[in-house]
Amino acid sequence: MRHPSLIPAPLLPVVLLLVCQVARSFLLEGSATSYAQFRKWNAGLNGTLEFEFKTEQGNGLLLYTDDGGTYDFFEVKLVESALRLRYNLGGGAQIVTVGHDLGDGHWHKVQITRCNENTTLTVDGVGAVSTSRGKEFEFGKLAGNSDVYVGGMPSWYNSKLTLLALPSVIFEPRFNGFIRNLVYADGENTMPRRQEMKSRDAKVRKYFGMRCYKKICSSKSPNAILDLNCRSSCKCFVTVINDQTFEDLSEIT
Ligand SMILES: *[C@@H]1O[C@H](CO)[C@@H](O)[C@H](O)[C@H]1NC(C)=O
Ligand SMILES: *[C@@H]1O[C@H](CO)[C@@H](O)[C@H](O)[C@H]1NC(C)=O
Repeated sequence: MRHPSLIPAPLLPVVLLLVCQVARSFLLEGSATSYAQFRKWNAGLNGTLEFEFKTEQGNGLLLYTDDGGTYDFFEVKLVESALRLRYNLGGGAQIVTVGHDLGDGHWHKVQITRCNENTTLTVDGVGAVSTSRGKEFEFGKLAGNSDVYVGGMPSWYNSKLTLLALPSVIFEPRFNGFIRNLVYADGENTMPRRQEMKSRDAKVRKYFGMRCYKKICSSKSPNAILDLNCRSSCKCFVTVINDQTFEDLSEIT
């Protein structure tokens, strides 16, 4: 299916405009090193965190953040196409699982909602509550907490396992798919906001967007026409851009 080809230079500005409109999602390829890194989550006692994902695989690490290596962590992953939250706020690890068939290639919305000792995991509006034991329910100390990692962990953690509250996280399969709309409060803010990526594995593709071909050229021959106003008469593909090279990943239907 993959078919790299060069962008005709005159079309580049148009293409980038289009890409900007849909660049709110990003692709993690699930390779041995892929991950994306975001600001610390100021979880507070009543914080929320949400994001959407789309994948065709039933297993993979979606999100991880911890207190820098003591006890507290939040780990969200797909396990056999169900969504699983494992977390610890100091009183012992808790597990809560929701949903099924989540590796079906459609978008799914995840929400984690804290309310003191109770933490609710929700997928597509269906939630389950878990109650922590212990005396206090703060998530670590903001200053010492880790950033939020999505899709995998940076490989430098492999030699710094003591910095992980849940060292096994580095062995989790990496997430292969799309993520968008990661929203939570960060820093000293208590108002949730959409998070921008801080950094990512260099091999993760920079942008993706949509590329359309006239149906007559649906074989994607080298002289296929890139037409941005032809959704009904074209075949459109999710497209990754590596510098100057396009790669069509999957057809949008
Ligand atoms: C969460 O708690 C903080 C301080 O305890 C408060 O300022 C904020 O309004 C609360 N947010 C919600 C959504 O209840
Ligand atoms: C936590 O959940 C339990 C059981 O659902 C409920 O009785 C309790 O009031 C909840 N606590 C808070 C702070 O919402």
